[in-house]
Amino acid sequence: MRWLSIILMSVLVLTGLAFGLVYFVSEQKLSDRDAVLSFDLPIPEDEASIERGRHIARTRGCFGCHGQELAGKNFDEQWDWPKRAVAPNLAKYARNHDAATMEAAIRQGIGADGRELVSMPSYNFSSLRDDDLAALLGFLRAAPLVEEPLPSPALGWEARWGFVKGDELSMADWAAMVPPLRIDPAKDPELAEGEYLAMTMCNECHGLDLRGDTYGSTMGFGPPIPDLAIVATYDRTQFEALIESGVFPDGRRLGIMTLVAPDRFPSLSDLEIDRLHGFLQSLASTPAPEAFWRP
Ligand code: HEC
Ligand code: HEC
Repeated sequence: MRWLSIILMSVLVLTGLAFGLVYFVSEQKLSDRDAVLSFDLPIPEDEASIERGRHIARTRGCFGCHGQELAGKNFDEQWDWPKRAVAPNLAKYARNHDAATMEAAIRQGIGADGRELVSMPSYNFSSLRDDDLAALLGFLRAAPLVEEPLPSPALGWEARWGFVKGDELSMADWAAMVPPLRIDPAKDPELAEGEYLAMTMCNECHGLDLRGDTYGSTMGFGPPIPDLAIVATYDRTQFEALIESGVFPDGRRLGIMTLVAPDRFPSLSDLEIDRLHGFLQSLASTPAPEAFWRP
């Protein structure tokens, strides 16, 4: 009897220690990058900048994840990998945080508490231009405040174990790996604009460099996501139809893009679609470089 209770106690203690270690190491991995708090552009308040900010928020998907009224959203039913992801109320957040803190969350993937974000795709925004970011912040500050109750976020053991093993990377880790924009706007303004649009809208899913992503699929998150060089096979009309609906001409629906495209991309102007189409078509002339997100 005595031996049995000693064994039982030891198992309990060891299990407790193992969980403690996973907790400690995962917290460490989520705080090994420091935010650079240097963004100091004034937050604009004029009508034109606020409209520009609304356009950025719409086309970059802030509404889809933070709610159509920016009141925040609980992702319990959509994704369960982190256990409970909760996108905060952005209108409220923007009133309570300064520009540098918001910049760190949006472009660097580091939250106001200094901890790296886990579900917010900051790597898709890390190439946002300073003036567009300032306009976005102006829009968020001016947006009407709608408050709804939100649960607290939670990071589960499975997700923590993923961070410990290194299979999971934080949003700050991903944001730090986004390749810089290559095209010089002084030399080719149209192509550069297309690259900017693609690198702040499409690399959320199509790979950090737009040349495809199979990393998620190897971890069981849906199908491999194609290299956008495939756009060379789309004429302008077909391209617009696909990105605005997420549905192929034959009626076949695109995985997750069918969910997000109608929320984000119908707001793109004709000129923006021209630039995006032109730039993506140019990708076909270079082979996709090797990258770990295409193992
Ligand atoms: C795919 C969904 C998604 C999209 C798109 C998205 N967010 Fe988030 N965001 C989240 C989630 C989930 C969180 C909660 C924190 C986390 O991910 O760890 C969050 C957190 C934040 C935070 C708070 C960070 C902190 O201090 O804790 C800010 C600010 C923010 N998002 C701004 C934006 C803006 C601005 C946009 C559009 C440019 C945007 N988000 C687009 C899902 C999203
Ligand atoms: C939220 C994720 C997501 C975003 C953001 C996204 N895509 Fe997609 N896209 C996908 C997925 C997933 C597929 C493939 C799904 C399938 O074939 O069922 C896809 C497929 C495509 C295809 C079809 C390729 C083919 O097989 O012919 C094109 C073209 C495309 N996307 C263009 C874009 C462009 C341009 C952008 C940015 C403006 C974009 N996508 C943004 C997820 C996304």
